[in-house]
Amino acid sequence: MPNEFNEEELMAAARAAREHAYAPYSAFAVGAALLCEDGSVVLGCNVENASYGMTICAERGAVAAAVAQGKRRFTAIAVAGSAEGATPPCGGCRQVLSEFAPGLRVLYSHGETHVNVAIEELLPAAFELP
Ligand code: THU
Repeated sequence: MPNEFNEEELMAAARAAREHAYAPYSAFAVGAALLCEDGSVVLGCNVENASYGMTICAERGAVAAAVAQGKRRFTAIAVAGSAEGATPPCGGCRQVLSEFAPGLRVLYSHGETHVNVAIEELLPAAFELP
């Protein structure tokens, strides 16, 4: 399990994945790179739809792709937005990330730099079925 990882490499992968974003409605491209405990990296990007609410965020796309590959344990995710400011994961994606990844490190872009926080800092009281 890679407890240590190269933050710059993971963020570079997210920035590369952002190139595949399908965002004709918002023009806001997002890429995600999910580092799995086996060391592999699964990518995601936002996929928008003419029915706006059907839009899939980059983070949830990456989680769905990883789970479909039999990967359910994650070490970190990098999220790269196209804003000059910060692109932290939306609330819904925080909940989805929490499901699979206690202790997950979340790297999100802030212009050319990034912030590194634990998922519990972003979502302190994630919903769990009792
Ligand atoms: N978006 C993401 O992909 N991830 C987030 O965490 C925030 C928002 C996308 C959804 C939509 O395609 C665009 O950014 C603007 O909201």
